[in-house]
Amino acid sequence: MQILGIDIGGSGIKGAPVDIERGEMLTGRFRIPTPQPAKPKSVAETVAEIAHHFDWHGPIGCGFPAAIQHGVVRTAANIHKKWIGVNASNQFSAKTQCPVTVINDADAAGLAEMQFGAGRGRDGVVLIVTIGTGLGTAIFTDGRLLPNTELGHIEIDCEEAEKLASDAVRKNEELSWQDWAQRFDRYLTRMEKLLWPDLIILGGGISKHHAKFLPYLTVNAEVVPAQQGNEAGIIGAALAAK
Ligand code: BGC
Repeated sequence: MQILGIDIGGSGIKGAPVDIERGEMLTGRFRIPTPQPAKPKSVAETVAEIAHHFDWHGPIGCGFPAAIQHGVVRTAANIHKKWIGVNASNQFSAKTQCPVTVINDADAAGLAEMQFGAGRGRDGVVLIVTIGTGLGTAIFTDGRLLPNTELGHIEIDCEEAEKLASDAVRKNEELSWQDWAQRFDRYLTRMEKLLWPDLIILGGGISKHHAKFLPYLTVNAEVVPAQQGNEAGIIGAALAAK
Protein backbone atom coordinates (compact mmCIF):
# COMPACT_ATOMS: atom_id res chain seq x y z
CA MET A 1 0.00 0.00 0.00
CA GLN A 2 1.18 3.52 -0.78
CA ILE A 3 0.59 6.49 1.50
CA LEU A 4 1.87 10.04 1.07
CA GLY A 5 4.04 10.88 4.10
CA ILE A 6 4.56 14.55 4.97
CA ASP A 7 6.90 15.94 7.64
CA ILE A 8 6.05 19.46 8.77
CA GLY A 9 9.04 21.26 10.26
CA GLY A 10 9.95 24.79 11.25
CA SER A 11 12.01 25.47 8.12
CA GLY A 12 10.71 22.96 5.57
CA ILE A 13 7.67 20.86 4.73
CA LYS A 14 8.77 17.63 3.05
CA GLY A 15 6.83 14.79 1.50
CA ALA A 16 7.12 11.60 -0.54
CA PRO A 17 4.92 8.61 -1.36
CA VAL A 18 5.87 5.69 0.90
CA ASP A 19 5.55 1.94 0.40
CA ILE A 20 4.37 1.18 3.93
CA GLU A 21 4.97 -2.59 3.74
CA ARG A 22 8.65 -2.04 2.97
CA GLY A 23 9.07 1.25 4.82
CA GLU A 24 10.63 2.92 1.80
CA MET A 25 10.07 6.18 0.00
CA LEU A 26 9.06 5.58 -3.60
CA THR A 27 10.56 8.80 -4.96
CA GLY A 28 12.91 11.49 -3.77
CA ARG A 29 11.32 13.83 -1.26
CA PHE A 30 9.72 17.10 -2.37
CA ARG A 31 10.43 20.05 -0.07
CA ILE A 32 8.83 23.46 0.20
CA PRO A 33 10.13 26.05 2.70
CA THR A 34 7.67 26.46 5.59
CA PRO A 35 5.65 29.64 4.97
CA GLN A 36 6.36 32.44 7.43
CA PRO A 37 4.46 33.11 9.58
CA ALA A 38 3.47 29.43 9.71
CA LYS A 39 -0.21 29.99 10.46
CA PRO A 40 -2.78 27.21 9.87
CA LYS A 41 -4.07 28.47 6.51
CA SER A 42 -0.68 28.91 4.82
CA VAL A 43 0.67 25.61 6.18
CA ALA A 44 -2.45 23.78 4.97
CA GLU A 45 -1.95 25.34 1.53
CA THR A 46 1.66 24.11 1.47
CA VAL A 47 0.53 20.59 2.45
CA ALA A 48 -1.95 20.73 -0.46
CA GLU A 49 0.85 21.87 -2.81
CA ILE A 50 2.85 18.78 -1.87
CA ALA A 51 -0.15 16.51 -2.50
CA HIS A 52 -0.71 18.28 -5.82
CA HIS A 53 2.96 17.84 -6.79
CA PHE A 54 2.52 14.06 -6.53
CA ASP A 55 -0.98 14.22 -8.07
CA TRP A 56 -2.08 12.48 -4.87
CA HIS A 57 -5.65 11.29 -4.25
CA GLY A 58 -5.14 8.66 -1.53
CA PRO A 59 -4.48 8.69 2.22
CA ILE A 60 -1.92 11.10 3.69
CA GLY A 61 -0.03 10.95 6.99
CA CYS A 62 1.47 14.15 8.46
CA GLY A 63 4.03 14.51 11.24
CA PHE A 64 3.56 17.79 13.13
CA PRO A 65 5.84 19.37 15.79
CA ALA A 66 3.26 19.50 18.60
CA ALA A 67 1.13 17.27 20.82
CA ILE A 68 -1.75 16.07 18.64
CA GLN A 69 -4.87 14.69 20.29
CA HIS A 70 -7.30 13.11 17.83
CA GLY A 71 -6.18 15.48 15.09
CA VAL A 72 -6.26 18.60 17.29
CA VAL A 73 -3.06 20.59 17.99
CA ARG A 74 -2.58 21.03 21.74
CA THR A 75 0.82 22.72 22.14
CA ALA A 76 2.88 25.32 20.27
CA ALA A 77 6.48 25.41 21.50
CA ASN A 78 8.16 26.11 18.16
CA ILE A 79 5.14 26.80 15.96
CA HIS A 80 2.68 29.67 15.58
CA LYS A 81 0.39 30.01 18.61
CA LYS A 82 -2.63 30.20 16.28
CA TRP A 83 -2.37 26.41 15.92
CA ILE A 84 -3.56 25.69 19.45
CA GLY A 85 -7.00 24.10 19.37
CA VAL A 86 -7.01 23.76 15.56
CA ASN A 87 -8.06 20.40 14.11
CA ALA A 88 -5.07 19.95 11.78
CA SER A 89 -6.47 16.72 10.29
CA ASN A 90 -9.65 18.50 9.20
CA GLN A 91 -7.77 21.53 7.84
CA PHE A 92 -5.40 19.40 5.76
CA SER A 93 -8.19 17.06 4.58
CA ALA A 94 -10.28 20.03 3.43
CA LYS A 95 -7.39 21.54 1.44
CA THR A 96 -6.12 18.29 -0.10
CA GLN A 97 -9.48 16.54 -0.54
CA CYS A 98 -7.74 13.43 0.85
CA PRO A 99 -8.10 11.68 4.23
CA VAL A 100 -5.26 13.04 6.43
CA THR A 101 -3.97 11.56 9.69
CA VAL A 102 -1.82 13.90 11.80
CA ILE A 103 0.54 12.75 14.56
CA ASN A 104 3.39 14.24 16.57
CA ASP A 105 6.59 14.37 14.50
CA ALA A 106 8.76 12.50 17.03
CA ASP A 107 6.09 9.80 17.37
CA ALA A 108 6.18 9.49 13.56
CA ALA A 109 9.97 9.13 13.52
CA GLY A 110 9.67 6.59 16.32
CA LEU A 111 7.18 4.46 14.39
CA ALA A 112 9.59 4.32 11.44
CA GLU A 113 12.58 3.43 13.62
CA MET A 114 10.66 0.73 15.51
CA GLN A 115 9.35 -0.94 12.37
CA PHE A 116 12.21 -0.52 9.96
CA GLY A 117 15.19 1.00 11.76
CA ALA A 118 17.23 0.88 14.96
CA GLY A 119 14.31 -0.34 17.12
CA ARG A 120 13.22 -3.19 14.89
CA GLY A 121 12.28 -6.28 16.91
CA ARG A 122 13.10 -4.57 20.21
CA ASP A 123 10.83 -5.23 23.19
CA GLY A 124 11.00 -3.53 26.57
CA VAL A 125 11.09 0.25 26.94
CA VAL A 126 12.53 2.17 23.99
CA LEU A 127 12.99 5.95 24.12
CA ILE A 128 13.48 7.87 20.91
CA VAL A 129 14.76 11.43 21.11
CA THR A 130 14.76 13.57 17.97
CA ILE A 131 17.26 16.39 18.19
CA GLY A 132 16.55 19.43 16.01
CA THR A 133 15.03 22.86 16.59
CA GLY A 134 13.40 21.28 19.63
CA LEU A 135 13.79 17.97 21.45
CA GLY A 136 11.06 15.50 20.46
CA THR A 137 10.41 12.25 22.31
CA ALA A 138 8.60 8.98 21.63
CA ILE A 139 8.24 6.06 24.04
CA PHE A 140 7.49 2.47 23.10
CA THR A 141 6.82 -0.41 25.46
CA ASP A 142 7.00 -3.83 23.81
CA GLY A 143 6.58 -2.09 20.47
CA ARG A 144 3.51 -0.04 21.45
CA LEU A 145 3.65 3.75 21.31
CA LEU A 146 2.60 5.93 24.23
CA PRO A 147 1.64 8.99 22.14
CA ASN A 148 2.48 12.64 22.73
CA THR A 149 5.18 12.43 25.36
CA GLU A 150 6.57 15.98 25.44
CA LEU A 151 9.69 15.20 27.40
CA GLY A 152 11.84 17.78 25.65
CA HIS A 153 10.18 20.28 27.96
CA ILE A 154 11.23 18.89 31.33
CA GLU A 155 13.31 21.29 33.40
CA ILE A 156 16.96 20.73 34.12
CA ASP A 157 18.45 23.16 36.64
CA CYS A 158 15.51 25.55 36.07
CA GLU A 159 15.96 25.50 32.30
CA GLU A 160 13.75 23.77 29.74
CA ALA A 161 15.69 20.82 28.28
CA GLU A 162 15.18 21.83 24.65
CA LYS A 163 16.50 25.33 25.41
CA LEU A 164 19.61 23.75 26.89
CA ALA A 165 20.46 20.87 24.58
CA SER A 166 18.70 21.00 21.19
CA ASP A 167 20.66 21.10 17.95
CA ALA A 168 19.48 24.68 17.42
CA VAL A 169 21.10 25.63 20.75
CA ARG A 170 24.32 23.87 19.75
CA LYS A 171 24.46 25.93 16.56
CA ASN A 172 23.29 29.26 18.06
CA GLU A 173 25.72 29.09 20.95
CA GLU A 174 28.46 27.63 18.72
CA LEU A 175 29.07 24.84 21.22
CA SER A 176 31.80 22.28 20.58
CA TRP A 177 30.57 18.69 20.19
CA GLN A 178 31.95 17.90 23.62
CA ASP A 179 30.24 20.87 25.30
CA TRP A 180 26.94 20.11 23.64
CA ALA A 181 27.22 16.37 24.37
CA GLN A 182 27.81 17.06 28.06
CA ARG A 183 24.62 19.12 28.21
CA PHE A 184 22.70 16.49 26.28
CA ASP A 185 24.09 13.83 28.60
CA ARG A 186 22.55 15.63 31.59
CA TYR A 187 19.23 15.43 29.79
CA LEU A 188 19.59 11.74 28.94
CA THR A 189 20.69 10.93 32.48
CA ARG A 190 17.50 12.52 33.79
CA MET A 191 15.44 10.56 31.25
CA GLU A 192 17.14 7.37 32.35
CA LYS A 193 16.38 8.02 36.03
CA LEU A 194 12.72 8.66 35.21
CA LEU A 195 12.00 6.00 32.59
CA TRP A 196 14.69 3.30 32.74
CA PRO A 197 14.70 2.64 29.00
CA ASP A 198 16.40 -0.49 27.66
CA LEU A 199 17.32 1.29 24.46
CA ILE A 200 17.67 4.96 23.50
CA ILE A 201 17.57 5.90 19.81
CA LEU A 202 18.83 9.36 18.83
CA GLY A 203 17.30 10.84 15.69
CA GLY A 204 17.08 14.10 13.79
CA GLY A 205 19.63 15.57 11.40
CA ILE A 206 22.31 15.42 14.09
CA SER A 207 22.22 11.61 14.16
CA LYS A 208 24.57 11.43 11.17
CA HIS A 209 27.25 13.07 13.36
CA HIS A 210 26.87 10.43 16.08
CA ALA A 211 30.56 9.55 16.15
CA LYS A 212 31.29 13.08 17.39
CA PHE A 213 29.08 12.94 20.48
CA LEU A 214 28.19 9.34 21.42
CA PRO A 215 31.57 8.83 23.17
CA TYR A 216 30.68 11.57 25.69
CA LEU A 217 27.38 10.02 26.81
CA THR A 218 27.45 8.26 30.17
CA VAL A 219 23.99 6.69 30.51
CA ASN A 220 23.78 2.98 31.24
CA ALA A 221 21.15 2.21 28.60
CA GLU A 222 22.26 1.19 25.14
CA VAL A 223 22.33 4.36 22.98
CA VAL A 224 22.27 4.07 19.18
CA PRO A 225 21.81 6.51 16.30
CA ALA A 226 18.59 6.38 14.29
CA GLN A 227 18.98 4.41 11.07
CA GLN A 228 16.47 6.24 8.92
CA GLY A 229 17.93 9.71 9.29
CA ASN A 230 15.79 12.50 7.91
CA GLU A 231 13.48 10.08 6.10
CA ALA A 232 12.07 8.69 9.38
CA GLY A 233 9.63 11.60 9.75
CA ILE A 234 8.12 11.04 6.30
CA ILE A 235 8.05 7.24 6.49
CA GLY A 236 6.62 7.23 10.03
CA ALA A 237 3.92 9.77 9.13
CA ALA A 238 2.82 7.46 6.32
CA LEU A 239 2.82 4.46 8.70
CA ALA A 240 0.56 6.38 11.10
CA ALA A 241 -2.05 6.76 8.38
CA LYS A 242 -2.20 3.02 7.68
C1 BGC B 1 7.50 20.00 20.48
C2 BGC B 1 7.27 18.54 20.21
C3 BGC B 1 8.06 18.12 18.99
C4 BGC B 1 9.52 18.50 19.12
C5 BGC B 1 10.32 18.17 17.88
C6 BGC B 1 8.98 20.28 20.58
O1 BGC B 1 9.19 21.65 20.79
O2 BGC B 1 6.86 20.39 21.69
O3 BGC B 1 5.90 18.28 20.01
O4 BGC B 1 7.95 16.72 18.83
O5 BGC B 1 9.64 19.89 19.38
O6 BGC B 1 9.85 18.84 16.76
